[in-house]
Order: sequence, then C-alpha cells, then structure tokens
Amino acid sequence: MKRLITLFSLSLLTFSFSSCLEEVSTSDSPSLAGFSNPQSLQFNEREMGVLSQSLDLPANIDVTTTRIPNHLSRFSGLNEAAQTSSEARKALLGRVLFYDTQLSATGETSCATCHKQAAAFSDDLAFSKGINGAVTKRNSIALGSVPTFAPAISGYGRSGDEEAARVEGDVKFFWDERAETIKEQSEATIQDELEMGKDLHQLSSELKEQEMYKILSFKAFGTTDLTPDRITLALEKFTSSITSMNTRFDQMVDRQISGRSLEGMFTDSEIRGMELFNNNCSSCHGTSMAKPALSVANNGLDLVYADKGLGGRTGNAADDGVFKVPFLRNVALTAPYMHDGRFATLREVIDHYSEGIADHSNLSPQLRSFNGRARQMNFSEADKQALLDFLQTTTDETVLVDEHFSDPFRQ
Ligand code: HEC
Ligand code: HEC
Repeated sequence: MKRLITLFSLSLLTFSFSSCLEEVSTSDSPSLAGFSNPQSLQFNEREMGVLSQSLDLPANIDVTTTRIPNHLSRFSGLNEAAQTSSEARKALLGRVLFYDTQLSATGETSCATCHKQAAAFSDDLAFSKGINGAVTKRNSIALGSVPTFAPAISGYGRSGDEEAARVEGDVKFFWDERAETIKEQSEATIQDELEMGKDLHQLSSELKEQEMYKILSFKAFGTTDLTPDRITLALEKFTSSITSMNTRFDQMVDRQISGRSLEGMFTDSEIRGMELFNNNCSSCHGTSMAKPALSVANNGLDLVYADKGLGGRTGNAADDGVFKVPFLRNVALTAPYMHDGRFATLREVIDHYSEGIADHSNLSPQLRSFNGRARQMNFSEADKQALLDFLQTTTDETVLVDEHFSDPFRQ
C-alpha cells in the first residue's frame, strides 16, 4: 500500500469555485446504499474492494499542510496552507483522472503522457506525442509549479472573499495565455484533436457508469453524477495541488531577507548566479520564482516567428512573438526549452540571452539597451556557469517522488 506524504495544496483555492460545484449537500449529508459518507475521509470496505481492483490507494485520504517559504508568506501572512477536506477528496479524483487513458479518444494518452512526474510534470520532447500519431504544436509546459497558489502568497482572498480569490493572481495558462483557469485549460486539452480528442460529454457519460468513478465522485462531490464540470474541477484541484516550494532557492532567499550569511551553505557560483539573475532576468521572470514580473513578453528568439504566440490568437501584429513568461522552478528538469522546445539545454538558453537576442520589433524593453537595440548580455564563461548553478537550486526533489502525485493505477 502506498504511503501518503505531504500534499502541497493551499486552502484558499476553495473559494475560487462556485458553490453549485461543491458538495451537493453539506447540512444533511447525502447517503447512498453501499457508499461511505462523502464528508468522511475514509473509504469503506466495499469501496476499497472495488477501488483496489484497478487502483493502489490507501483507505484514508490525507489532508495535508504545506509550509510556505518566508519570502512568500510575508506578503500574505500565511506561513502554511492547509488543504481542506473537500480539496483533498477532489484532488484524489483528479489524480486518478490525470493518469487515466480513457480521457483520450483512442486510449493512447493520459495527461501524464505529456506531463510526467519525473520531469516535474513536463516531458522531454520538443513537441509531445498526441493521439493517432499527431504531435502537439508547442512544447509541453511543466506543471510542477502551476501558479494557482498565487492568491495565498499575494494575500488575495485572505478575508475569505470569493471574488478576490477568483483573481488567481492574474496568471493565465498556455504559451499564448488562452485559458483563464486550469479548468478551462483541461476542457480545451481533453477535446483538442491532436492531444486527447475526446468529447467531454461522451467522457462524462462513460465514466459515470463505472463503479470506480461512482465511488470517487461520490467522495469528492457527494454525487455519482460525474459531469464534465466536475471532471475538469477535479483535474484543477489535482494540478493546482502540485507546487514546488521545498527548494534550496527558497532557503537562499529566506536567509538573505533575514540578513543571514549565504556563505558555507551556498557556493560562490550559486550566489553570483542569483545576483546575475536578479540583475538580468527578474524584470520578467520575477525574483521569487512564484509569480513572473511580466505575464507575457517577446524574448528575442526570432526575427520572424513561425508560431506567432499571442499574436496568433489576437491577430494583432504587436503581439507577434509574444509568449507567456514561464515559471522557472524545476527548470533543470524540464528540457527542452521555449514554446517550441528549440533549446536542448539550459546552457543554450543562457547563450541565447548572452549573444543571440534577435532584434524583433516587438522585443520587450527589458531586453533593449539605451540605444534601443537588442541588449546582448555578453556573459563571461564563469557567469554562464553561475547562472546554470543558480537555476539548479530551484529544483524541488520531493515533487518528483511525492506519492500524492504519482500514478495510482496498478500496472
Ligand atoms: C499530447 C500531450 C498533452 C496531453 C495529453 C496533455 N497536455 Fe497539458 N500541455 C501540453 C502542451 C503541449 C501544453 C502547452 C500548449 C500550449 O501552450 O499551446 C500544455 C499545457 C498545459 C497546462 C498549462 C500550464 C501553464 O502554466 O500554462 C496545463 C495546466 C496542462 N497542460 C494540464 C494538462 C491536463 C490536466 C491534462 C489532461 C486532461 C493535459 N495537460 C494533457 C501537452 C499535453
Ligand atoms: C523580456 C523578458 C525576459 C527576460 C529579461 C528574460 N526572459 Fe527568459 N523567457 C521569457 C519568455 C517570454 C520566455 C518564453 C519564450 C518562448 O518560449 O517563446 C522565456 C523563457 C525562458 C526559459 C525557458 C523555460 C521553459 O520552460 O521553456 C528559461 C530557462 C529562461 N527564459 C531563463 C532566463 C534567464 C536565465 C534570463 C536572464 C539571463 C531570462 N530568462 C531573461 C522572458 C524573459
């Protein structure tokens, strides 16, 4: 039996969803013959008998607490974030869905095909393998730092104000930011003909008939009616429970803001790398690795873009070559890089900023010098190594093995 370890999730997320999707009833607990009380975090023997046929899950669902690093908690005052029972139950359903190939029309792909735990929920291909031999148009985005924890770190929703929490720290999803929420993103992905090609209503009616999903759905929502909305909400609860805040990077910043010395704990090269990052990269990527300073930018990859990014969606030439500024937590594990996976290594990424910035008319001002031209950073060999060493400190090794996020299916 797999052991439950701490699940990273933040309680404030509960507020972001409309009440119709919450439990069917809270005061008078719904009951159904053979099903355990949905509010309880335990499956009964009959349920375990059914679940165990396909899944390797413990009878108890764990509700867990995540420690938030000081440099992030000082904005919200929240030192830790406790998952609610409701979130834990929905995230479990979401986890099973995430690894289920029934979500694709041909049974070839699950979410995990392109978002692998060992690679911080990205994959090692420039373009991921979809169904029927198709490949995706863009590089898979790592989910090891999906930023829906933004409300907790920025203080939104601290009062429990639903509208405020809904802001989600204005982070949007996909390389061209076309989805406002992960729920929207999941709807798009499941129905995308290259990726999964499955009609959500069809999926819902198939899963609803399966005993395993009746049990998981009743536990999550107090009803066996696993609607498309509940499917995508559970997926959102699962993916947004994956965060990566247990890193040497966080220790480094926490020490720094409290005025303690970094020497001895971090190498000179890592410390130099942080300085270089803060001077050259943080104007877009941010200093906390939690929320980018800019949500989208043109970082000078090309003079002419084959994929126009935001411009392809808005039809506005001023948006050509503009893409989401990606999160860099776990970046050492998420090669290849950029929206089209053009760079195989982080060294190539650093070489790009050092010598290769293209002077596109939409190039972001952060990458221009005073004369208006592209500002090549011209790093020395030691500086390049320092940036590399620094970027490695953002890896959270626990996410890669956390059994809350692992494949629950018996192989
Ligand atoms: C065939 C490969 C593939 C499958 C299957 C797949 N994804 Fe993705 N995922 C991608 C690619 C490629 C992108 C980036 C697409 C883009 O920006 O246009 C992406 C982006 C995302 C993002 C946006 C992350 C961000 O920070 O913007 C999320 C969240 C996500 N996927 C979750 C899921 C979930 C949940 C599933 C299952 C329902 C899933 N993916 C299935 C390839 C895949
Ligand atoms: C003008 C804003 C801006 C600045 C400054 C900037 N970046 Fe980026 N960075 C971006 C954007 C936008 C992307 C995604 C571009 C794309 O895929 O088309 C990106 C992508 C990346 C990626 C790839 C991540 C992935 O998952 O594919 C890495 C690594 C990276 N940047 C590191 C750095 C470093 C290191 C610096 C400083 C030397 C830096 N960036 C400076 C905007 C910026």
